[in-house]
Amino acid sequence: MKKHITLILILCIGINTLPYAQENLLINTYNRETKSLNGYWHYIVDPYENGFYNYRYEPFENQKVPGKGAFFTNSKPENKADLVEYDFDKSDSIRVPGDWNTQKEKLFYYEGTIWYKKSFDYQVSKKENRVFVYFEASNYQTDVYFNGKKLGVHRGGFTPFNFEITDLLKEKDNFLVIKVDNKRKKEGVPTLNTDWWNYGGITRDVKLVETPSNYIQDYFIHLDPNDNTKILGQVTINAIPKTTQKVEVIIPELNINKSLETNKEGVGSFEIVSDKIQYWSVKNPNLYKVTIKSNDEEIIDQIGFRTIKTNGSKIELNGENIFLRGISIHEESLLHGGRGSTKEDAEQLLLLAKELGCNYVRLAHYPHNEHMVRLADKMGMLVWEENPVYWTIMWENQETYANAQNQLSEVINRDKNRASVIIWSMANETPTSDARNVFLTKLAKYTREKDPTRLISAALEQSDYKENKFVRTINDPFADQVDILSFNQYIGWYDGLPEKCETISWKIEQDKPILISEFGAGAKKGLYGSKEERWTEEFQEHLYTETLKMIDQIDQLQGFSPWVLVDFRSPRRVLPEIQDGWNRKGLVSEKGKKKKAFFVLKSFYENKEKAVKN
Ligand code: GCU
Repeated sequence: MKKHITLILILCIGINTLPYAQENLLINTYNRETKSLNGYWHYIVDPYENGFYNYRYEPFENQKVPGKGAFFTNSKPENKADLVEYDFDKSDSIRVPGDWNTQKEKLFYYEGTIWYKKSFDYQVSKKENRVFVYFEASNYQTDVYFNGKKLGVHRGGFTPFNFEITDLLKEKDNFLVIKVDNKRKKEGVPTLNTDWWNYGGITRDVKLVETPSNYIQDYFIHLDPNDNTKILGQVTINAIPKTTQKVEVIIPELNINKSLETNKEGVGSFEIVSDKIQYWSVKNPNLYKVTIKSNDEEIIDQIGFRTIKTNGSKIELNGENIFLRGISIHEESLLHGGRGSTKEDAEQLLLLAKELGCNYVRLAHYPHNEHMVRLADKMGMLVWEENPVYWTIMWENQETYANAQNQLSEVINRDKNRASVIIWSMANETPTSDARNVFLTKLAKYTREKDPTRLISAALEQSDYKENKFVRTINDPFADQVDILSFNQYIGWYDGLPEKCETISWKIEQDKPILISEFGAGAKKGLYGSKEERWTEEFQEHLYTETLKMIDQIDQLQGFSPWVLVDFRSPRRVLPEIQDGWNRKGLVSEKGKKKKAFFVLKSFYENKEKAVKN
């Protein structure tokens, strides 16, 4: 019945004007029944966006009838005289997920539009069910069309989004056409300049998700930050028409079977008291099987219960002070290069961090794929997740703020049930200004309202203390808004040489924990020489030795995440024979070879862990 009403509606308001509805994000597609659309998709490189604009540069989709020239119609000639100047099925194919830069040599530096097309048949298991197409990520702007109709557009290269296709789905010959444009934009998030490769494309999984007509759209189940015997939760059921719904939350190991009813908006809350909870921790990453059951479906998740708070200059996990032995990580695959996206990619990086002696990772500078946080949950690895508000964002542009807030909301929606995620980072190394302080303060306020259970930080600006160039401090106004003071410092690399570390001390006046979010030095794997010679492994090793001595003097220091676990691609790094397009500050080369400094940090962390144990 519903389908017919919608169909009539579409006919009345024109066949190509489906609303740009980014349906509320589907929770936990990780554990849902889904049909993967991963594999080889046909693609067309379209630098002039000839498949989107007519020759007068007007969008085809704004025309009453788009015409065969619009690539999203996936047209074929109707007879041998017919003019169609493209053909997806005769075009080359490319793997999804995967960036195009490292899959096709001709696309290595390409920044522009590429069209993807995937055809498929689909049989719904029950006629009243609903079907969504879910993207784990696509960089940067993604216009989605299904069977010739525009579903919507998404901006941001690192967060999931989905669109409903129920009313347009056929049993046979469906076609999904995706326009991906990775051109950097001044008003973008991130903006034009970054120190990482602008990998374009559908860079993570794509899947079809079938749900009952009334489905479990969202849930957030966590420990009460102020009472660790209480589990609080909220469940949202998306029902058509909106009606109250009965829901059960079942945690067998705690003998919990909580029934609740949603209000007519579909939202229901609950609290459960239990004195038997085994808290999630680094040493004991205990995850409970949690079943969320509605009249029409049930979803299973694995959730850890823990608290994370600050207490003066301490960070407390479950009420106990913890030192974060970290490392910063970019999302590049050690297995095949380019954007990482698979479980195996996540395992490679997190096991390397574990081998380094880490209990904490800073996922820089954007949300990584969901495998990273799911695996961190299992391994007992604490996680800093970061919004790509990086360097010189357009602070006064409303659309830029809306984009930054939307990307942050999407990663919080995806990961809010992950115990390993303890810090939401608002930004990285952003120059201070009134507009920047307003922008970041608004973002922090939004984050606290959306998720009051985690800590907020950002890589702040550091400076000389009262003009004394031998004493450093934090007088960044945004320091008042964050729970944890973080900053990047490069004494010995960008700021003097490693010996300078001996002359510097730190005087931080805020009574908050300090996490140094970056320090490091570049070294070409296999280049050996004196510790005075920049780019040798010995220079990098020496910088680590000197830096660790310097920062170990900072009383409020509660951890750090040196820059960076693995060498990563960057168009900014062009020194021949040394960089060749790679940022060489990795402790490990892009081929997985450990440098000398890896072992300096590993030994420091081993001694740190022993000191805490004793
Ligand atoms: C900055 C920045 C990193 C960058 C690093 C470097 O602190 O946060 O993204 O790669 O320094 O210069 O190598």
